Amino acid sequence: MTIRIAIIGGTGVYDPNILTNIRDEKVSTPYGEVGLKVGDYQGRSVAFLNRHGAGHSVPPHLVNYRANIAALKELGVKSIFATAAVGSLNLNMGPGHFVFADQFLDFTKVRQHTFFEGGEQGVVHTDMTDPYCPELRQVLSNAAAELGVTYHQYGTYVTSEGPRFETPAEIKMYKLLGGDLVGMTSVPEVVLAREKEMCYANISMVTNYGAGISPTKLTHQEVLEVMAANAENLRKLAMKAISLLDPERGCLCQDALEKLNKE
Ligand code: HPA
Repeated sequence: MTIRIAIIGGTGVYDPNILTNIRDEKVSTPYGEVGLKVGDYQGRSVAFLNRHGAGHSVPPHLVNYRANIAALKELGVKSIFATAAVGSLNLNMGPGHFVFADQFLDFTKVRQHTFFEGGEQGVVHTDMTDPYCPELRQVLSNAAAELGVTYHQYGTYVTSEGPRFETPAEIKMYKLLGGDLVGMTSVPEVVLAREKEMCYANISMVTNYGAGISPTKLTHQEVLEVMAANAENLRKLAMKAISLLDPERGCLCQDALEKLNKE
């Protein structure tokens, strides 16, 4: 069965326990080999990719984002739900809330952030007006509303390079620039998905307020604890969203380059 839906599990989401008949797959890409799991949910084949590798061993700035996205494309995936633990800059978005980001600000520094390196492919500038698939965000919002969990359908995700947390001065700057959330992984993942014409949605789980807003110093342990406390909600949300999604659906995200080339 073709695999149309993928979950990228971020911090605190390491195992595809919503799936049955789980098997390991290895996918070769020009950027390296990717290990992932494939299983079934309600008669659908779903891929599960652990962003930070076995035992959370790969830090955000060293994730092989190109290989991961190329591997999902290779499998035939059309829609990606990507989870992320985030800090919040917005007092309305508190710990335990879900946010389905609609915009990003990119403060990354050392990542491979495109599949388009010139040469035979030419120079490609991909539209980013709606970087996160609006239809998948709607599906997530419907799922969250049905489950009765607190969610926000809009939010600007600031991607910091990490792996350190931010300074309070940086958090103040991100807030002034319009950021709502800060995390370390959404860029370039979302950009690469669009370059491969896949729909991509971010499921941010707020684990803390940003440095300087939070009354305490930040620790990875705190992030893990909040993720663990909300794991069941996240699992239910992913299941509900998958069940509401038509795996064969078409979408403007899936014509991103065709449209670009015609203009
Ligand atoms: N900053 C960056 N990444 C994060 C945070 C944060 O405060 N919390 C969880 N991931």
